[in-house]
Amino acid sequence: MTNAGSRVTIHMAASLDGFIARKDGSVDWLETSDEFADGATMDPEFVEAFLKTIDCYVMGSRTYETALLFEGQGKGWSYGDKPTFVLTSRKLPRTRDTIEFYSGDLAELVNGRLRPTFRNIWFVGGGVVSAECLRLGLADNVSYSILPILIGEGIPFFEKLDRDIALHLAEVKAYKSGMVELRYELDSGRAGLT
Ligand SMILES: NC(=O)c1ccc[n+]([C@@H]2O[C@H](COP(=O)([O-])OP(=O)(O)OC[C@H]3O[C@@H](n4cnc5c(N)ncnc54)[C@H](OP(=O)(O)O)[C@@H]3O)[C@@H](O)[C@H]2O)c1
Repeated sequence: MTNAGSRVTIHMAASLDGFIARKDGSVDWLETSDEFADGATMDPEFVEAFLKTIDCYVMGSRTYETALLFEGQGKGWSYGDKPTFVLTSRKLPRTRDTIEFYSGDLAELVNGRLRPTFRNIWFVGGGVVSAECLRLGLADNVSYSILPILIGEGIPFFEKLDRDIALHLAEVKAYKSGMVELRYELDSGRAGLT
C-alpha cells in the first residue's frame, strides 16, 4: 500500500560548477565567506523546525563514511534521531540504532518500504545514489544549494545520467551567505521515466 502523500527529495549542496566533493571526497570548500546583502538569513529556529519535518534519510555508503568521519572529528551527526537508510554491499560499522543498511533494488526500497511508511523522504547523496534515484524515476523534488565557489573538478551532483530529465523550477531563494537554493519538481516520481 503506497502512501499517496509521500515525497522523495534529493538534497545536496554543490559548487557553482556542479561538484558535491573534491575527487578525494573532501568538502572543506563548503565553508565559503561570501556576503550577499539582499539575501535571507538562515534562522536556526526555522532550520530546526524544518529538519523536524523530514521523516527519514537515504544515503550512499561513501556519504555515510564521510558522515562517520565528521562525527569522529567531533562535528556531530547531521541526521538526528531519524531513521537513516545506508545503501551498501559492504559490512560497515553501525554506530546507532537509527541506521539500517540496505543492498539491492533502490525502487523496491523506496516504493515498497519507504513510501508506505514515511511522508517526507530525503536522499542526501552522494552523486551515485542521486543519479540512481533519478534514473529510476523515484524523485519528486531536487533541492540544489549552490555555493559561491568554483572548484574545477570533483564528484558531480549526478553521476553519469544516461538521458535528459526535464525539471520544473518551483522555488528560488538567495541567502546572505551567497548560497542560492533551487528547488525543482519532477512529475516522474513513482511512475518511472520512459
Ligand atoms: N555537498 C554535499 O551536499 C554532499 C552530500 C552528500 C555527499 N557528499 C560527498 O559525496 C561523496 C560521496 O558521493 P559518491 O557519489 O562518491 O558516493 P555515494 O553516492 O555516497 O555512495 C555510493 C556507494 O553506495 C553504495 N550503493 C549505491 N547504491 C546501492 C545499492 N542499490 N545497493 C547497495 N549499495 C549501493 C555503493 O557502495 P558499496 O561499495 O558500499 O556497495 C556505491 O559505490 C563524499 O565525498 C561526500 O562527502 C557531498
